[in-house]
Amino acid sequence: MKTITTVAEIRAALLEPKRAGQTIGLVPTMGAFHEGHLSLMRRARAQCDVVVVSLFVNPSQFNDPADLAAYPREAERDASLAGAIGVDHLFAPAVEEVYPPGFATTVAVAGLTETLEGRHRGRAHFDGVSTVVTKLFNMVGPDVAYFGQKDAQQALVIRRLVRDLDLPVRIEVCPTIREPDGLALSSRNARLSPDDRARAAALHRALDAVQQAVTAGERDPAPARLAALAALRAAQIEPEYFELVSTHTLAPVERIDGEVLAVVAAHLGATRLIDNQLIHPSPIPDREVATLMTAAPTAA
Ligand code: PAJ
Repeated sequence: MKTITTVAEIRAALLEPKRAGQTIGLVPTMGAFHEGHLSLMRRARAQCDVVVVSLFVNPSQFNDPADLAAYPREAERDASLAGAIGVDHLFAPAVEEVYPPGFATTVAVAGLTETLEGRHRGRAHFDGVSTVVTKLFNMVGPDVAYFGQKDAQQALVIRRLVRDLDLPVRIEVCPTIREPDGLALSSRNARLSPDDRARAAALHRALDAVQQAVTAGERDPAPARLAALAALRAAQIEPEYFELVSTHTLAPVERIDGEVLAVVAAHLGATRLIDNQLIHPSPIPDREVATLMTAAPTAA
């Protein structure tokens, strides 16, 4: 596997495979790889002729400079993990390569970005994500790009921007990889104190509580949500938000008639965690959940 740092080089490396009709898969990341990232790379490896993983800690999507400064950077470890999976190119550009002096363009998706994470982290977060992902698509020109359901709102925003801007790339959303106790893998988990790490499993229990209520016949989101809040409270967690929303618009649902998305964000100590789970009146395996999200209509 080669590490490539410039746009010219990645384009040159992909020229011949593209000419030969080979499929290119892109996995955009900010590094500090865990099994969540690796699962996306394995999926890309299984489906595409050439796999590119981008590693770029994107300053424009951080609302807090301290968060950006504290973001883990483990380039060598990341390169060996990606290499072991059979990734062809690790594309790790410097900040100046992505944002040269005078950079003045922003890609902004309206609507979907104004709620949940957009509301709590500020608009600039998704503008940063949309802009850098558009740029990565233009730099690499992938046939397929892989994203995690862990960041469900991000995946929906990217699917919308691809549709709205007619970008010729298929977006694949892959299931959330979890610790044995249910905590979704995240580079932020390492920052949790042992006590907070133990409490953090309540996020998943709360999402499960919604599914259990719905499986038991509940169709009103209010009591289902209360069951989740009780699971959080048992672990002394006061969420920033816990909502049952439409998988298409991210607006709160009034009834649980079909598939809905339960979403949660909470601070544990100084660490902010997010998680989500697709809730369905008849429970379906995780594998199909990702397929459903992939197939979800994008009309607002
Ligand atoms: P990052 O946080 O590094 O995540 C890279 C990809 O891994 C995202 O698509 C994310 O949803 C996925 N991922 C993270 N944790 C996961 C888990 N536990 N299971 C499955 N997938 C998981 O998300 C970003 O980077 C950035 O916003 C990016 C899209 C690269 C733009 O800068």
